[in-house]
Amino acid sequence: MLQLSDADFQRLVTFMRDRYGINLSQKRLLINSRLSAALQAKGYTDFTKFVDELLSGKDAAQVEFILNKLTTNYTYFMREKEHFAFFNEVILPDLIKRNERKKVLSIWSAGCSTGEEPYTISMCIKDFLGPQAGLWDTRVLATDISPRVLSEAADPSYEMPTDIPPEWSRRYFRKRTDGSGLYTVTPEIRHNVIFRVFNLMEPIHFRIKFDVIFCRNVMIYFDQETKDALVQRFYHATNQGGYLLIGHSENISKNSPYRMLRPATFRRE
Ligand SMILES: C[S@@+](CC[C@H](N)C(=O)[O-])C[C@H]1O[C@@H](n2cnc3c(N)ncnc32)[C@H](O)[C@@H]1O
Repeated sequence: MLQLSDADFQRLVTFMRDRYGINLSQKRLLINSRLSAALQAKGYTDFTKFVDELLSGKDAAQVEFILNKLTTNYTYFMREKEHFAFFNEVILPDLIKRNERKKVLSIWSAGCSTGEEPYTISMCIKDFLGPQAGLWDTRVLATDISPRVLSEAADPSYEMPTDIPPEWSRRYFRKRTDGSGLYTVTPEIRHNVIFRVFNLMEPIHFRIKFDVIFCRNVMIYFDQETKDALVQRFYHATNQGGYLLIGHSENISKNSPYRMLRPATFRRE
């Protein structure tokens, strides 16, 4: 196993924090174990050469490699059900009423991983609008820093989720035709999501503001300063009366400009 020196560990921690907001300062063993064998397989005999190359910024593949190894992409359909209950019972009725004239819902899944979150959102919206769905623009913007998870999301291959409303398996999933026995989502749901690479450390300059921002289980890796700055940027990207949903194990500063409605659920007044 390759051994990570203090200096290379610090260089990696600084790179991941400055560039992606991800704080790995307590994760030395994880870095060492997740990277060591993969670097040896690529022919490296120590970490220093790899870190030099990574920091030189000349090879985008090195960045992609380290993101794949050091970020957590764990996600599933209907994760944190309480959010989707509130989304269906409070947020959607509110937005449908307020946006009735334009018939547009603007929703952002920030840190969407392999797509289960934006697809769950889309299924909730389609269920809610029923036959009216075709009259509305309900496209969900779904972003992540990892091109790998986004390409999986764009051509999804899932086991049939167990924790979804029973009628969803028939309504929104189709068996893949590649013999894998796995499922994809229906074209109606897939086309409702627009996947893009976006680093949440960057300024937010999307064409529109959002009625709802889901940023769940992403900021957990960010330090307080990074989180506070991101929440400010989210706030300016939220329509008045719009919502921010974060993971239930996360928190944002009490001084945030949003009003807290219930755990992990905030509103721009
Ligand atoms: C654990 S997944 C969460 C997925 C989904 N939101 C959920 O709650 O199930 C965290 C995702 O955040 C992404 N991420 C981490 N740092 C990011 C950053 N600076 N910008 C954009 N995405 C980031 C990771 O690539 C990963 O796919």
